[in-house]
Amino acid sequence: MNFPGGVFDSDIIVVGGGVAGLSVALGARGKKVTLLSKVPVTPQGAGGSSVWAQGGVAAAVGADDSPALHAEDTLAAGAGLSVPRVVRVLTEEGPERVFELIALGAEFDRADDGGLALGREAAHSKRRVLHASGDATGAEIVRSLMAAVQATPRIGVVGSVEVVDLALDGAPGAGDVRGVVGVSETGERQLYRAPAVVLATGGLGHLYAHTTNPPENTGDGLAIAARAGARLVDLEFVQFHPTALASGIDPMPLLTEALRGEGAVLVDDRGDRFMVAEHELAELAPRDIVARAIWRKKEGGQQVFLDAREAVGESFPQRFPTVFSLCQAQGLDPRRELMPVSPATHFHMGGIATDIRGRTSLGGLWACGEVASTGAHGANRLASNSLLEGLVYGARVALDIDSCGGAAELADCEDSQCAGSAATPGPTLAAEEEDAKIQELRKLMWKEAGLVRSAAGLERANKGLKRLGWWVNSASPRLRNLHTVAQLVSQAASQRLESRGGHFRSDFPFPDPAWKRRLFVALEDGVLQEAPAWPESSPALAATSGEAAR
Ligand code: SIN
Repeated sequence: MNFPGGVFDSDIIVVGGGVAGLSVALGARGKKVTLLSKVPVTPQGAGGSSVWAQGGVAAAVGADDSPALHAEDTLAAGAGLSVPRVVRVLTEEGPERVFELIALGAEFDRADDGGLALGREAAHSKRRVLHASGDATGAEIVRSLMAAVQATPRIGVVGSVEVVDLALDGAPGAGDVRGVVGVSETGERQLYRAPAVVLATGGLGHLYAHTTNPPENTGDGLAIAARAGARLVDLEFVQFHPTALASGIDPMPLLTEALRGEGAVLVDDRGDRFMVAEHELAELAPRDIVARAIWRKKEGGQQVFLDAREAVGESFPQRFPTVFSLCQAQGLDPRRELMPVSPATHFHMGGIATDIRGRTSLGGLWACGEVASTGAHGANRLASNSLLEGLVYGARVALDIDSCGGAAELADCEDSQCAGSAATPGPTLAAEEEDAKIQELRKLMWKEAGLVRSAAGLERANKGLKRLGWWVNSASPRLRNLHTVAQLVSQAASQRLESRGGHFRSDFPFPDPAWKRRLFVALEDGVLQEAPAWPESSPALAATSGEAAR
């Protein structure tokens, strides 16, 4: 295969410019890094969910807190599927990563005494969530990391490159990763070669009709790793945020959980505060419970609103400036008006299976951030643990690649060897037609493989995806990747015959102890197959006993 856009060599290729990708690039001291981003790069960031993160970063830095307590809360949220060792690493290394960020210039909100202001969010037993400018935490973290990256000459940041495939030196599932195939802004194919490739491409929110994620979150890293035969895990676990602003725009503006943390309440259109009857923690019950309660109300024809008039009121612009301006843009004044809400896809707990160094089952490939599934989040992520995971596991990936010494030679990539794991046809579907197919796919996933699933619904999803599959080979990477990821999520959801965390089956509404295990899978000849655990040394579920995972 030819690469008219050029062939470029580095020590490390990082795909994705969110918190995880930037952390890898900065941490890989002494290595020539090329960081590729699908969107244009600015001092404010390089796309993805990190910049949009309103909720903060959780870390056990308070005097009454400890990594062990943070780990306990994380394990409880994970509904039995979090891997204790992975969680321990997250919570023990978290505070140090946060102090490094502060040293780098990240400005977190301070209390009156000058110490870090620590917020409490749902399912956290202590105040341990750091914020910046109230609800602009992700933007501040990315700003500080990006400033450091741009001041580091060994790191080259290239925007507007769409990575369409991994370059393998063998068959999918067997070959090592030697680089990535990209398409430049001008549509030319490029080959980026390196002995170490890191996928930090973020999540898959746009697989669903309703999402809080930025448009670039189309599951690209997951799709290309799947096609290359990487081991994947926990794909069925998608987290739906209960309170996205239902104002008819896509993506939906997020109304941070911190609002409920500050006392904002959910009411239906009769003014009934229905969460009180649903759960002892009312609005601060686990996300999946709140999201499904809202879903049921809406399915019953009611509207649901978040009421922050009393809890936040006049201080809204100061305390929640991001949410305030998002509401204003929709002609809503949350100081005086109710905010209509709907659940929306927010985070994917599943992804490319990684070990605690961020290694994947493919040689030469690491993954971190939302595209990876370290096992920290289990079946349901604890709020504000995702930025932390990006920081901690991004740093670990950098350390691991460093410890390999970069000894591997750059692959002798003959064009034919590095053609990528799948050919990528040029887009021949007209843009509007393709967009219509994408919207069809997103609606199908929302309806049949969303918050409430069943065998019949998942069967309809699979049939619909087969119909759409006809178009995929003539489509752009966006539709191709969304289609791959839709198949992965819906097939994994069909396999798990229970309800747990973010995965709810109306035909199997309770957790089943027999299913207290992680579901590892791989694509073989385009079909999702159950696969051995990765890493092999750890049992499929290292969550049943803390010791088992050590
Ligand atoms: C939020 O602010 O509600 C989202 C935080 C998170 O998802 O961790």
